[in-house]
Amino acid sequence: MPGLLSSSGSLTVIWFLSWSLCRSSAQIWTNEVSDVQYGRLDSNVTLACGKSQIKIPVVWHLDDSQVLPWHKVTSDGSLVLLHVNLSAQGNYSCYDNHGLLLHSIKLRLGYPPGLLSISCQVPNHTLVRCSWKESVKTFLPVEYNASLRGNGKAWQPCLVDAAHKYCDVEHPSFWQTIHTLNVTATNALGSESTAARIKLDKLLKPDPPESVLVNEVEGFPNRLNISWNFPSSWALRDAFPLVFHIRYRPHGSQYWSEVYPEESPVVIFDALAGHPHQVQVRARDELDAESQWSDWSPLRYGRPWEDPATSEPPEDHFPDYVFPFNTKPETSTSKSLKPVLQDDGNLGLVILLVLFAVVIIATVLSLFFVVWVKQRRREHVTKQELTSMVKMKSMPI
Ligand SMILES: *[C@@H]1O[C@H](CO)[C@@H](O)[C@H](O)[C@H]1NC(C)=O
Ligand SMILES: *[C@@H]1O[C@H](CO)[C@@H](O)[C@H](O)[C@H]1NC(C)=O
Ligand SMILES: *[C@@H]1O[C@H](CO)[C@@H](O)[C@H](O)[C@H]1NC(C)=O
Ligand SMILES: *[C@@H]1O[C@H](CO)[C@@H](O)[C@H](O)[C@H]1NC(C)=O
Ligand SMILES: *[C@@H]1O[C@H](CO)[C@@H](O)[C@H](O)[C@H]1NC(C)=O
Ligand SMILES: *[C@@H]1O[C@H](CO)[C@@H](O)[C@H](O)[C@H]1NC(C)=O
Ligand SMILES: *[C@@H]1O[C@H](CO)[C@@H](O)[C@H](O)[C@H]1NC(C)=O
Repeated sequence: MPGLLSSSGSLTVIWFLSWSLCRSSAQIWTNEVSDVQYGRLDSNVTLACGKSQIKIPVVWHLDDSQVLPWHKVTSDGSLVLLHVNLSAQGNYSCYDNHGLLLHSIKLRLGYPPGLLSISCQVPNHTLVRCSWKESVKTFLPVEYNASLRGNGKAWQPCLVDAAHKYCDVEHPSFWQTIHTLNVTATNALGSESTAARIKLDKLLKPDPPESVLVNEVEGFPNRLNISWNFPSSWALRDAFPLVFHIRYRPHGSQYWSEVYPEESPVVIFDALAGHPHQVQVRARDELDAESQWSDWSPLRYGRPWEDPATSEPPEDHFPDYVFPFNTKPETSTSKSLKPVLQDDGNLGLVILLVLFAVVIIATVLSLFFVVWVKQRRREHVTKQELTSMVKMKSMPI
């Protein structure tokens, strides 16, 4: 037996072989596949035909019909599969030279686990959730064992969800900022432990605020009333207050305006009248300066109040409302919105003034002309009157 194993050079799981050899004798003569053997892909895998001392010639079959993969049969009847790939998986059976079934083995192939890449989320002060990805696809079922500990403290189990590849620690010791997480992945071919150092205060990142609402404020065409709720995963809102960050912009604009309110709701005073606005809110722990902002809440839309009596909605004044600085997307500046508007307004004003001046000048000129014409006519009439008077005087009475 040891000679066989060393000469085959296979990476077969030794304990499993010996275990199966001890147990298989009872089932040898049945038609059942009694054992599962695990083997490593790309290696040579040795399958023993039951007890190792069988000297009679044996015949191997795979799934009763298929052709065997690349292989050799050793003198003691073992089957050595060379450089196996996934298509070598299946039920192997060995028969004696009378066609009698001696033994059956189900072969499953894969790789031992490799190191994991681990990342942790801390959505509030009472939960650490660490998830991982495998660096090696093992093709075999893997189990995980995970634990967390603060610097120099005892290990605390991290409750594993193997299907979704994460584990949870409830009520971690938050006052200890540096923790070590150890995740051990185990399958039939081996195990591998991965350790990760995490800093809870830096990982603390709330979920986005919820139920964000953008409402008009009646009577105010430039105001919007923005309200929101705490993330539902942040239940201890009194013990751990949050600060908020709101950004908003007219729909179509590249530029966000921002406010940092402490409470909901907040009213903004510089909305663009007549335009729908996009609004997002995010949150951060107020006291933990190292912690992270939440992701932005989903986009919400709201339109400021509009006077129903106005025949001309304000947007008609600037039908070609565009933002000319479209070079840097997503730049966030509170100022940029207003200069654009002022530029537009100034241009209109200048045109109006020029038109006005032209009208004034034209009116003045025509007035002068009329006055001049009248003057000329009057002079003419006076001359005629004078001559006629002179004529009349010179006439004899
Ligand atoms: C598998 O067996 C072949 C033939 O016996 C040998 O040449 C090869 O080196 C073996 N491969 C491994 C990985 O042991
Ligand atoms: C698997 O190995 C067999 C020989 O044992 C070979 O014929 C087959 O092409 C291989 N399949 C793949 C997918 O490499
Ligand atoms: C191998 O044998 C097991 C148990 O008898 C059976 O459930 C399974 O379907 C077989 N697999 C193949 C590929 O024939
Ligand atoms: C997981 O690890 C803990 C502590 O390291 C140990 O007590 C426990 O037996 C392990 N469980 C398994 C299934 O390996
Ligand atoms: C992780 O756990 C495994 C098994 O419990 C242990 O062998 C290994 O030393 C641990 N690694 C660290 C860094 O603590
Ligand atoms: C803003 O909205 C909230 C709730 O949506 C409401 O309670 C509050 O009265 C509103 N404030 C104003 C000024 O409209
Ligand atoms: C912390 O977050 C988890 C996951 O979202 C949640 O189930 C739990 O209730 C939260 N705990 C508190 C105290 O908010």
